[in-house]
Amino acid sequence: MRGKFITFEGIDGAGKSSHVEWLAEWLRSRGLVVQVTREPGGTVLGEKLREMLLNDSMHLETETLLMFAARREHLAQLIEPALARGEWVVCDRFSDATYAYQGGGRGLDRAKFQILERWVHEHVQPDLTLLFDLPLDVARERIVLASRILDRFEQERADFHERVRQAYLERAHAHPSRIQVIDAHNSLDNIRKRLEQIVITNCL
Ligand code: TMP
Repeated sequence: MRGKFITFEGIDGAGKSSHVEWLAEWLRSRGLVVQVTREPGGTVLGEKLREMLLNDSMHLETETLLMFAARREHLAQLIEPALARGEWVVCDRFSDATYAYQGGGRGLDRAKFQILERWVHEHVQPDLTLLFDLPLDVARERIVLASRILDRFEQERADFHERVRQAYLERAHAHPSRIQVIDAHNSLDNIRKRLEQIVITNCL
């Protein structure tokens, strides 16, 4: 049987990444084989593209094409073979991030996004997407507290991140059965309980 594909999404600072490993371990404890991966990245080539995407300035369409190029490689090398073997794939970001960041944040024409999405993964969509949502000021505070060098996206102004957040929520509204919104304000324990409940209801 084909495995399940679960993605994590949210604005920078929403805290999703700390839950990715936890969910994978929880699934493994139920006897499943789980691959944990991320975008942009997840393959040797994809990680090289990630370095460029996070650090080098470029035209919006170049940025979008490179995101989808990394995604094509990721699907071919890791995601599709794992799902075909019956393994589960837990991925930190996927195409909803392109919709939110390049579409919402930077204003990429939605029709161009749709062309690329259809081209690169017409027949593969996440079975479940966990969208971590948080007001911008709280997310920003978390990033500042982390006190590390910020990447090109994290350095963007507040209005960019607000547009990204709104685009994510709009996308969740358009795909209510696939995208589940998680209130990232909640305690770690409450978030974990909610994740368990959502995965049991939607995937197991
Ligand atoms: P991360 O910090 O969650 O690993 O993600 C890296 C950054 O890349 C994050 O700021 C969001 C951005 N990004 C896009 O702009 N478009 C995309 O399609 C993806 C996957 C990530």
